[in-house]
Amino acid sequence: MDHQLEQLLPALSARPALCKSLLPGLLDCVANIAHALRKSHHVALAGTANAFGDDQLNVDVVAEDILRAALSRCPAVATVSSEEDPTERVVNSASAFADKSERYAVAFDPLDGSSIIGPNWTVGTIVGIWDGTSALRQSPADKMIAAVLGIYGPRTTAILAIRLPGSEPVCLEIAIGVRSESGQCCSTILRPAVAFAKAPFKTRYFAPANLRAAAECPSYMRLIAHFVENKYTLRYSGGLVPDLVHALVKGHGVYVSPVTATSTAKLRRLYELCPVALAMECAGGRAIDPDTGDDILARPLDSCDERAGLVCGTPDEVSLVRDFFLGAFGVSE
Ligand SMILES: *[C@@H]1O[C@H](CO)[C@@H](O)[C@H](O)[C@H]1NC(C)=O
Repeated sequence: MDHQLEQLLPALSARPALCKSLLPGLLDCVANIAHALRKSHHVALAGTANAFGDDQLNVDVVAEDILRAALSRCPAVATVSSEEDPTERVVNSASAFADKSERYAVAFDPLDGSSIIGPNWTVGTIVGIWDGTSALRQSPADKMIAAVLGIYGPRTTAILAIRLPGSEPVCLEIAIGVRSESGQCCSTILRPAVAFAKAPFKTRYFAPANLRAAAECPSYMRLIAHFVENKYTLRYSGGLVPDLVHALVKGHGVYVSPVTATSTAKLRRLYELCPVALAMECAGGRAIDPDTGDDILARPLDSCDERAGLVCGTPDEVSLVRDFFLGAFGVSE
């Protein structure tokens, strides 16, 4: 896998720890979490709540443990934080790692989609990798250098997006190997260049999250009517990762999760929005904050628990949605 990656992106040869240890380690985590999920016939509350007050499922805890254990084995990983424990904790002090040129902060949501895991719908893992020892008070557009989205459906796959300073971004789809009894698993690149298509589009897809908000947000209601009247195809499962990966795999789509006066922002910038925005941008898409219209990656994070809405996908469609909420078609509410 690391040879394939280096061939695709020569700049990775200057980052051996990322290429040979961290990224393969994260792909192994996706394989191991998939394996754990397949064995978990009982998806139950763990009896605890995470730091945000959300109920934790037993499978959330398993995924969290798999990722933390793997990350602590990568000496270049300086700090780790997650949606379940949203504080950047030091895992490897600088002295443990001789080569100071590679130090990473990793932030992840171990298992996104708790509300749809009971019926065994597709869920995912979201990971962001930042240059340096912290993701906070840095320019996300420059300092977040990679994102991994793990997808646990009938098949296990991952989207890997890498954007190193000074080199072209890449976005690839990876088939995660099935873990054999001996514990071995191998992953291979399914598609080396995942990219949004250019207009004209054969089929246009929309994913309207937080649809209830349309009842009190006229511009969202008008946007939904626009999608319906213009014969867009609805593709929405309620799982952030599978819903976005649908757009990446099909080459078209727009995901809309607005924030309104009565529905507060739910998506965490550090654990969800920044990594998915990087994946979107590396595939030639866009990801904006529907409140301001600015790119998700434009604004530094001040804390681990900032939240916002999301509009992302095909650039033309993102601009259209932005106009509905903020521009010419919008009305002040
Ligand atoms: C859940 O679905 C996957 C395929 O997506 C399947 O392999 C697994 O057996 C299912 N789990 C249960 C408990 O039915």
